[in-house]
Amino acid sequence: MIFLIICGVFGFFYISAILYFHYKYPELRWNWDNIDTSKIKFPKSFSWGTATASHQVEGNCINNNWYFWENQKDENGHPRIKDNQKAGAACDHWNRYKEDIKLIKNLGVTHYRFSLEWSKIEPNKGDYNQNVINHYSEVIDALIEQKITPVITLHHFTNPIWFDQLGAFEKEENITYFLSFCEMVFEKYSSKVKNWCTINEPEVYSVMGYFAGIFPPGKKEPQLAVEVLRNLLVAHTTVYHHLKNLPNGKNSKIGIVKNIMQFDPYRRWNLLDWIVCRVTTKIYNGIALSYLEKGAIKVHYPFFVKLNYQSKIAAQATDFFGLNYYSHSHLKFKFDSYEFFENKFFSHDTMTDMPYVIYPEGLYRAIKKAEKIKRPIIITENGIADSKDDRRGLFIEKYIYAMNKAMQEGINVEGYFYWSLMDNFEWAEGYDMRFGLYEVNFKNQKRTLRKGSQKFIDIINDSK
Ligand code: BGC
Repeated sequence: MIFLIICGVFGFFYISAILYFHYKYPELRWNWDNIDTSKIKFPKSFSWGTATASHQVEGNCINNNWYFWENQKDENGHPRIKDNQKAGAACDHWNRYKEDIKLIKNLGVTHYRFSLEWSKIEPNKGDYNQNVINHYSEVIDALIEQKITPVITLHHFTNPIWFDQLGAFEKEENITYFLSFCEMVFEKYSSKVKNWCTINEPEVYSVMGYFAGIFPPGKKEPQLAVEVLRNLLVAHTTVYHHLKNLPNGKNSKIGIVKNIMQFDPYRRWNLLDWIVCRVTTKIYNGIALSYLEKGAIKVHYPFFVKLNYQSKIAAQATDFFGLNYYSHSHLKFKFDSYEFFENKFFSHDTMTDMPYVIYPEGLYRAIKKAEKIKRPIIITENGIADSKDDRRGLFIEKYIYAMNKAMQEGINVEGYFYWSLMDNFEWAEGYDMRFGLYEVNFKNQKRTLRKGSQKFIDIINDSK
């Protein structure tokens, strides 16, 4: 009898919890058969762009943490990057930027987001390379000459080796080195560059580098991961306020770039899957969103991570919310003392070449989340790895529709940047993942516009 009562009570709470989660966190699905994706309208001021990052395209980045990482083996003697690939010459964008700017122009976009390679500008602590500073000046001038607005990212995953040796963002006191670099380049370029991204995807840098161990420095320490995440957020706020107070600061737009990803349960009836999703959501999205909204970080999962932080100057200290969106994950609980979940897929999922499904509704959901920060939203990255180019056109059409739907509902989205201008070094995946609007033949550096990219060009033209 007592056993039955216990089972009854347990069953009641279990079902109540499942119903609560089920209705509170619906997995949005639209019926695409009834959707007319051509019904989209954009304000004249909408910014269309494309994006890259220095290490992925420039070539010859031989003084940063990734160069070091690409030349290392893991504890089992395996290469860090798939098939032992290395960024090497990448797309040789450093030397070919003029022809690449013409390719950008041919897309009809008006904006180009690229990152400055800190390790080239400041190869040794406090020692700036004038030739490199001049190089980026020339890139900026070449863009402006073509009427393309430069958007600079100050930090996109790479650190100079000297900064890593000091402990990089593991130590809050190291933020000052990053700040000095940011102030220096802002003073150099801010008379011409009005759009600045501080840090690209702090959650990806910290989770991949300090939890999954797939990015440098390859650590697997959850507590350190959340501390690094906090330090990157603090770095954003510090840089933001300092740059705003420099000449040109007030009339520049300076913002953070955050990746939002939804974690939906693989089995909606399984409480463990739900718990895993709530924990990962809180760490991956919640920490940064709460920090940007209220200046507060509060996370405590016993035996896993604990962080309590309150800043008086962080709430809404960003001129825009740069949103990178790729996909959502279906998580399934796994009995494992470290990685207690796995990423699962359904047979009906349409996959990209990355382990991401095509889920345009997720961009809409992410925009709704980002709205909480009460700042204009810019989609700073969205794109597909599709080497066969048989899904790119549809991807572009549906994701842009999803973004536009959020806009029609009154959310202020000011721009959309497709990732990426051309195929490039996709971090731990090497060169196999083909995100480019332009296909790159890495043997001879020839760029060719992909058929699927025409959809992007058409949408931009129609919006004018
Ligand atoms: C990063 C890019 C990367 C892209 C595709 C984003 O997380 O900012 O550098 O290439 O995702 O995986």
